[in-house]
Amino acid sequence: MINFISDDCYWVGADDHSTDLFEALWPLPKGISYNSYLVRGQKTALIDSVPAGFLPVLLDKINRVFKDKPVIDYLVINHMEPDHTASIDMLRSIFPEIKLIGNDRTKDLLKAYYDITDGIIIVNDGDTLDLGDRLLQFHHTPMVHWPETMMTFDPASRVLFSGDAFGGFGTVDEGLYDSEREEASTEDELFRYFSNIIGRYSAMVQKAIDRVKELNPRVIAPTHGSIWRTNPARIIDLYERWNSHTTDPGIVVAYASMYGTTQKAVEAVTGALSEKLVPVTVHNLAHSHLSYVLRDIWKYRGCIFAGPTYNTALFPTLDALLRLVENKLIPSRALGTISSYGWAGGASAHLKEFAKRNKWDLVEPEINFAGRADEATLENCCFLAENMIAKCFTEELS
Ligand code: FEO
Repeated sequence: MINFISDDCYWVGADDHSTDLFEALWPLPKGISYNSYLVRGQKTALIDSVPAGFLPVLLDKINRVFKDKPVIDYLVINHMEPDHTASIDMLRSIFPEIKLIGNDRTKDLLKAYYDITDGIIIVNDGDTLDLGDRLLQFHHTPMVHWPETMMTFDPASRVLFSGDAFGGFGTVDEGLYDSEREEASTEDELFRYFSNIIGRYSAMVQKAIDRVKELNPRVIAPTHGSIWRTNPARIIDLYERWNSHTTDPGIVVAYASMYGTTQKAVEAVTGALSEKLVPVTVHNLAHSHLSYVLRDIWKYRGCIFAGPTYNTALFPTLDALLRLVENKLIPSRALGTISSYGWAGGASAHLKEFAKRNKWDLVEPEINFAGRADEATLENCCFLAENMIAKCFTEELS
């Protein structure tokens, strides 16, 4: 079957059901798609490509679009990450006439990753490429997700090839278009993709969103996940909300507990929160992947980190989470902390240093105890719950 996006524009991508972790990091319970598009005028452009192992799938789809021997004149490189470029060498062998379209940063990365220095056409922001009877227009959107990222717009059909932006996890074999993939397009999974992949440089992402709104696309065709054909405004609105860190009312609790003592304190807090009907999402870091925890921290206004001391430092799984949150530049949240130790502390200081470095708003009382959580500690946990509610639902963050 040939998938039409609009007149003489086709999806020629591939579904990946076998990779467990995207970027060797983010879980893919429903796989992922590598979306590539073929746009035909008098000349033909392939927009983005696929990992090398999926090239036969791409070529098979291209062959079905052409009645005769396929000719690809241009490969538009919206994004250089290898999930979209690792087949470039082979594509150049199969289509020796192909020219690579990218910007100055693309050129540097082509040299760095593939030692390619020839056959490159550099396009500046706003430049167009004439395919004969249709134009492609290029819009630079740096840091969404790498410095060379750009989007390609077909003004006649108003299809926007948006690169990683507006994409999602999950294969598209259950439906290529937004209207057909309700389950895979759930807000939680789209948010996980945004928070894991896209959202770090919010100012640059906002510039890209503003540009997209100016273009007013009829269709948004990203490099992963559903094509937004029925309701592109939905994903633009979601991106504006997530990127501005407009948080939901609720508290996410991420904890580690080696022998259950930290968990007992956590349960005292979550029990007190639940009694007040506060939405609480709890992640035991022995079970939850950081991908999902990161999404929920991005989502909610309040956050409680809890874990024991481990060789004078923070317990490794909680430490890894804090490093990831810091790396993703998540701005101020209301933060409650629970830490424990056996004979010498350490976790408490690390949690407070995290809050200070990232300008998160520490909520009193700090819970830090030796050994087990005694009655006084559990009572303090209830005070922490009350203060978290006050911070998250009635007070502005400092
Ligand atoms: Fe789909 Fe940033 O690569």
